[in-house]
Amino acid sequence: MDIKSNAMDENNTARRTEDGSAQAAQTKIARRDFLKLAVAAGAAIAASRVPGLGIAGGGGTVTRYPLRIPPGASPSSFSLTAAPSTVDVGGGQLSSVLAYNNSFPGPTFRANTGDTASIQFTNGLSEATTVHWHGMVVPTAADGQPQNLISPGMSYSYQFPIMQRACLNWYHPHPHMETGKQVVLGLAGAFIINDAEEAALGLPSGMYEVPLIVRDANFNSSGNLVYNPTSSGFLAKNPMVNGTRNPKLDVDAALYRFRVLNGASARLFKLALSNGAPFTLIGNDGGLLESAISISQIEFSPGERLDLLVDFRGLPVGTKVNLQDVNSGWILLEFNVTRAITDNHAIPTSLSTITKLTNPVTTRLFTFDGMTRINGKEYDPNRIDFQVPFGQTELWRFSTGGNAPHPIHIHGASFQVRSRSGGRGKLFPWESGWKDTVLLKDKEAVEILIRFDGYRGRYLIHCHKLEHEDQGMMANFEVI
Ligand code: C2O
Ligand code: CU
Repeated sequence: MDIKSNAMDENNTARRTEDGSAQAAQTKIARRDFLKLAVAAGAAIAASRVPGLGIAGGGGTVTRYPLRIPPGASPSSFSLTAAPSTVDVGGGQLSSVLAYNNSFPGPTFRANTGDTASIQFTNGLSEATTVHWHGMVVPTAADGQPQNLISPGMSYSYQFPIMQRACLNWYHPHPHMETGKQVVLGLAGAFIINDAEEAALGLPSGMYEVPLIVRDANFNSSGNLVYNPTSSGFLAKNPMVNGTRNPKLDVDAALYRFRVLNGASARLFKLALSNGAPFTLIGNDGGLLESAISISQIEFSPGERLDLLVDFRGLPVGTKVNLQDVNSGWILLEFNVTRAITDNHAIPTSLSTITKLTNPVTTRLFTFDGMTRINGKEYDPNRIDFQVPFGQTELWRFSTGGNAPHPIHIHGASFQVRSRSGGRGKLFPWESGWKDTVLLKDKEAVEILIRFDGYRGRYLIHCHKLEHEDQGMMANFEVI
């Protein structure tokens, strides 16, 4: 096994070999300085509670700022740079962040099934990073894994064909032990795939299709983003959507499609609308569900996505509706109905056909232990923990002795959730269809069916609570 993983390492980390160890040492120093800064900033926020910054989730007389819509981009030939930046997080509040192409969140990529992504990435940070395309089935060399670090000042070309069905994916850094910090300080963006099946449904599009990257955030006394986690997870004090604090969105009295990502490090959100109206749930991580479902509350964890229709038709101009998080009591986003229009969209009922995975050949058990281990082991980039035959359906069973929630994410394939026992004891409508991240709470066991039919190579399974991931709750496996 050792010999094998070394060989794999050489194949997959040409970049790292070029950079050499001197570069690695340099990265370490930069990283330490950066951390010091972040810690100092964290202390500052503890000492003074930032009057005048006006960040609050609870409503009342909070001033609200227009929701940022990140610029769109085609991935077919694109230069992407991660670098420190200063952005307006709402109302002219300038904040130091880490950003892709100076945009927080990063540009929203949009492509069709069958297109090719060719993204020339440059690391303008003072420490190593990678770009992982969460939810996308790509070759190991393009998967942005922790072994394939891109050193400061270096570039790497991410190339992959887009083979999967329409869905909302996202991209973010994945360097071991630094992912939480880099994501929380701003590095994340949406990646939308479209296809013919989805187009045939005639869903709301253009200004009526809005990506929502929902997360929490802490600011220091200067209004800069800070990352001040605890080992159990970064739970911050303020909601933020699309990099905007206290956001609002002017809407027409029309049907809207919201592409929602839980982009938080550790927080679960339970979404609801303040007027009691239901969402129409049409999709999740892996694209469209078989049929649309009307549902008024949806709880989702870091890394999970939701495709929601919200119907503002019939609401008089002047109506305000809030998107709320029932767990925290926060208002995540305020909708203001500002224009009456004629909108004849039908809400679809039947959406797609999903072939069920059946007859697993192998069963594998995974325990998520403490805050740092899977099956008793902390992550080691040089260790491959198991091998999975290509093209074979397997049953994977997840359980935990505590310290959940653990959002479990797998690279290299989508899966279907088969059962949940213990804890909540059932599956929820947003867990049907295709998933790549599933929430495991305390006392629960979750079973999934998975088949790797994209690529052979090295992939990852990990907890998507980024603090758990950074502390080692992650494992390599190899599709053979
Ligand atoms: Cu969103 Cu392995 O990551
Ligand atoms: Cu976890």
